[in-house]
Amino acid sequence: MSTLNQDQSDYWNGEVGQRWAAHHEALDTAFAPFTEVLFARAALTPGDRVLDIGCGAGDTALIAARQVGSGGHVTAADLSEPLLAVGRERAAREEPGAAPIDWVRADAQDHAFGTRFDHALSRFGVMFFEDSAAAFANIRRSLVADGRLSFLCWRSMAENAWVTLARDAVLPLLPEAEAPQPDAPGPFRFAAPETLLPILEAAGFRTIACEPVDRLMRVGEMPEAAADFVATRGPIARLLREREPAVKEAAFKIITELFTHRFGSGPVELGAACWLVTART
Ligand SMILES: C[S@@+](CC[C@H](N)C(=O)[O-])C[C@H]1O[C@@H](n2cnc3c(N)ncnc32)[C@H](O)[C@@H]1O
Repeated sequence: MSTLNQDQSDYWNGEVGQRWAAHHEALDTAFAPFTEVLFARAALTPGDRVLDIGCGAGDTALIAARQVGSGGHVTAADLSEPLLAVGRERAAREEPGAAPIDWVRADAQDHAFGTRFDHALSRFGVMFFEDSAAAFANIRRSLVADGRLSFLCWRSMAENAWVTLARDAVLPLLPEAEAPQPDAPGPFRFAAPETLLPILEAAGFRTIACEPVDRLMRVGEMPEAAADFVATRGPIARLLREREPAVKEAAFKIITELFTHRFGSGPVELGAACWLVTART
């Protein structure tokens, strides 16, 4: 597979991708309130051909396959082989009646999908492109006339307490940590619609809408699990990934104590804010 973005491919095939694969159930639980909104707005219909962009461990591809049924089809595309492997395993356990799913290791920026889709969707999988203009133009080309696009992307980090609370607490351990670059691939890349809208328009999308969605996100059933989630799979994982084990352990301890102080031994639920973006070809 060719990729325009080796750094993202390394990241999602490496330690973080493997952790996402191993803990996909916790991620699916955390994202569930957003997934519900995504599918409510996407309103897939039986027989639709669907592309899931950056499908990860397959939660949304599996939901799409159930909704479009055996007359439909889903292509689940991702850079990460460990995540695609989980998706394939999960699909093998599905009840009959769902659409077939092709799990494709592909860079959405330039992959020739070879099928025209009725609907392209993504749950937090479109903010990591090196060349977003190329990626959305490629996605647009892969859709039928009057095709639809629906995706979720994060609003600003400041609006996402599930990141800032822990990040602020561990930053003193990481004095030289760089602030996220507003225009670099990363979770908050499309926090500002002024960045995203011209890219979608230039790619040929129309009737573009960005709807704010705010929900509480359950990042763990107890403080240790929640600390593991934010430190090893959320945006803080990128800050910690090349640090000494002692720094990682100290960060984990600080976050666990913070969550314990605030939530006792129970579930950790924190504010999360994203855009639900919809458009047509
Ligand atoms: C934040 S994760 C979301 C995964 C999944 N959609 C979910 O909600 O669980 C981002 C995903 O996008 C994938 N990704 C990043 N850049 C990509 C690209 N250029 N083409 C295809 N997938 C990409 C990553 O491998 C990763 O699985």
